Amino acid sequence: MLTASLTFSPDFVVAPVRRRTFGSFVEHMGRCVYTGIYEPDHPTADEDGFRGDVLALTRELGATVVRYPGGNFVSGYRWEDGVGPRADRPVRRDLAWRSIETNEVGIDEFARWADRAGVELMYAVNLGTRGVTEALDVHEYMNHPGGTQLSDLRRKHGSPEPHGVRLICLGNELDGPWQTGHKTAHEYGRLAAETARALRQAEPDLELVACGSSHSGMPTFGLWESTVLELAYDQIDHISCHAYYEPLDGDVDSFLASAVDMDRFIDSVVATADAVGARLKNPKRIGVSFDEWNVWYQQRFHADPPTEWRTAPRLIEDTYTVTDAVVVGNLLISLLRHSDRVHVACQAQLVNVIAPIRSEPGGPAWRQTIFHPFALTSRLARGEVLQVRVDSPTQRTSRFGEVPVVDAVATHDAGETSLFVVNRHRTEAVSLEVPVGDVGVQEAWLLSDEDTSAVNTAAAPDRVVPRRITPAVVDGVLKVELPPVSWSALPLR
Ligand code: AHR
Repeated sequence: MLTASLTFSPDFVVAPVRRRTFGSFVEHMGRCVYTGIYEPDHPTADEDGFRGDVLALTRELGATVVRYPGGNFVSGYRWEDGVGPRADRPVRRDLAWRSIETNEVGIDEFARWADRAGVELMYAVNLGTRGVTEALDVHEYMNHPGGTQLSDLRRKHGSPEPHGVRLICLGNELDGPWQTGHKTAHEYGRLAAETARALRQAEPDLELVACGSSHSGMPTFGLWESTVLELAYDQIDHISCHAYYEPLDGDVDSFLASAVDMDRFIDSVVATADAVGARLKNPKRIGVSFDEWNVWYQQRFHADPPTEWRTAPRLIEDTYTVTDAVVVGNLLISLLRHSDRVHVACQAQLVNVIAPIRSEPGGPAWRQTIFHPFALTSRLARGEVLQVRVDSPTQRTSRFGEVPVVDAVATHDAGETSLFVVNRHRTEAVSLEVPVGDVGVQEAWLLSDEDTSAVNTAAAPDRVVPRRITPAVVDGVLKVELPPVSWSALPLR
């Protein structure tokens, strides 16, 4: 068996745990909205047509902020299609996902859903086919108290109070040639700066997110960020990162080390932003909004893209394994470790579309494997994030070189520390020792399985769940065995 140890101290703090690290994402895509959060005929639906079972699971997941309405979808979206009497709302083509959008759900419904789910609404404006005027219009509709045409329209539509949206994304993935209204970095940087300036004239304390690269493998990665930031540094607060991971060519070792890539991605974007800040002699620090991240078997999607125009088609409904859950747990470790600069993070997406929650039309909703590390981390990570020194054996991966087998982060709040640990080795268990002094371990959780390809389904929704474990503390040292491909949460008191 391999051996590893962790050391940390409440004196060495990275940053506060930001509740917005536990964000999610609802896009008008596939069945995320229709038969996901919204299904008026469902037995659990409330008076507004929201599925009660999905709402309950969203609360249990511990999602804190939800980005809406896209994604690629937003780059062709007209927000006004989704407000007012349903009978008058147009049915349109969604070019991003080759789908039919009925517009039964729009901003007013989503704000009501967010309220019921107890989450903050993060809104993305369309800067693909639209610009400053439409961003101002949707802002007036959502946030202006009343007495103007669009705020009064919202009131007439049954929302007397403003939706109070604080966090706004200035478009989505506009560096990507697949994006409707794709732009060069210069074109986008100017548009983002002007849109941000106008939105701030309306409401100065908005938090604005400029698009970074769609992923770190983009040919323009780095240059895109520096160009956009040169043009919009003063006007924006955060720059976005997006990353999706999957085992490429069966390379599970590299897949299990995906968090190494996420660490490097965040560090590179922070370094780029700080270099621009230095060049501009601007002491302000730009935050990272990691507003799309997850495991996504993209190769399957590209092999079988949608060809017919359908309403709420089954798109990218990946069924997640134990290995996927361990990777997701590790990506959360990476995000938490970077809490000094990652101010927002949204797992993509919430229901059905590469999601922790699955639902069947007229049928049940259930927790995918990846639900569990998210829910437990959101519940147990409190107070401040601590620096952790990990002494671990390493292993070679073809994509990321030599990587530590064990990865971990700790949080600390009023005498209670929570450790989140992964063993990324495919076959070897690790005996882990952690000097903890005079504390006990309460309610520890382990996610692992003899069968790392095990999944949860409608028929067997709890095939994969975290197990309770009770690690020993001997002479002030916590000793725990980490099975291969495992994620653990260890709260210490
Ligand atoms: O989450 C699925 C898609 O992935 C989003 O619409 C897009 O922004 C990203 O490429």
